[in-house]
Amino acid sequence: MHCKIAIDGPAGSGKTTVARELAKRLGIEYLDTGAMYRIVGLYLHNCGVNPDSTEEIEKILNEVSIEYKDGEYYLNGKKIGDEIRTAQAGVYASQYGASPVVRKFLTKLQKEICANRSIVAEGRDIGTVVMPDAQVKIFLVASPEVRAKRRYEELKMKGLEVSYDELLRQIIERDKLDSSREIAPLVKAEDAIEIDSSNLSVEEVVEKILEIVKERCKLT
Ligand code: DC
Repeated sequence: MHCKIAIDGPAGSGKTTVARELAKRLGIEYLDTGAMYRIVGLYLHNCGVNPDSTEEIEKILNEVSIEYKDGEYYLNGKKIGDEIRTAQAGVYASQYGASPVVRKFLTKLQKEICANRSIVAEGRDIGTVVMPDAQVKIFLVASPEVRAKRRYEELKMKGLEVSYDELLRQIIERDKLDSSREIAPLVKAEDAIEIDSSNLSVEEVVEKILEIVKERCKLT
């Protein structure tokens, strides 16, 4: 049986670290759907596309190919690096990610990647749209302040210049955008289990999820 684990939650809730670690421990595939929204958002921005113009977005997306291979993402054959990890790329991901055309394009791709394999996928709409059939659905939350602090430390470690206040502002703005968009907003799936990671270590969150996985998936 394939074990499908969906991890959704707002920016900085710890999804990426937790999902990556879970996949490693379980020896299964890991998909970061936020990375795909970042790739497309940054690309559309760089092409000067108006986020409100379905036509313009469609035209560009018709000429775009995104691939996922061995944990790496490729845009038109070019390997993607840390350029998508800036706070600004997150804002573009969120802005263009509100477009129905972008969502249709990426959702189709994500469903294909997740089909017929065991996988941990993380994002905003995994439990609701991409893998509604996942055996394990986690909704990971944390306070905006804790999330901004985590992002601050993470970006600083990568040597990027950032301001905590600016990150907090962007997180609050992104929460609003992600939760209020019409299509596939950030909402907890009815059958998702909510975990608040504000006062938990990565290890504690991973352990909690592993318990649930043990109950629901028989991985061989
Ligand atoms: O998880 P992240 O911070 O890398 O995601 C960046 C943005 O991409 C997020 O603010 C909203 C968008 N996104 C989305 O709309 N749906 C997803 N499944 C994943 C990300």
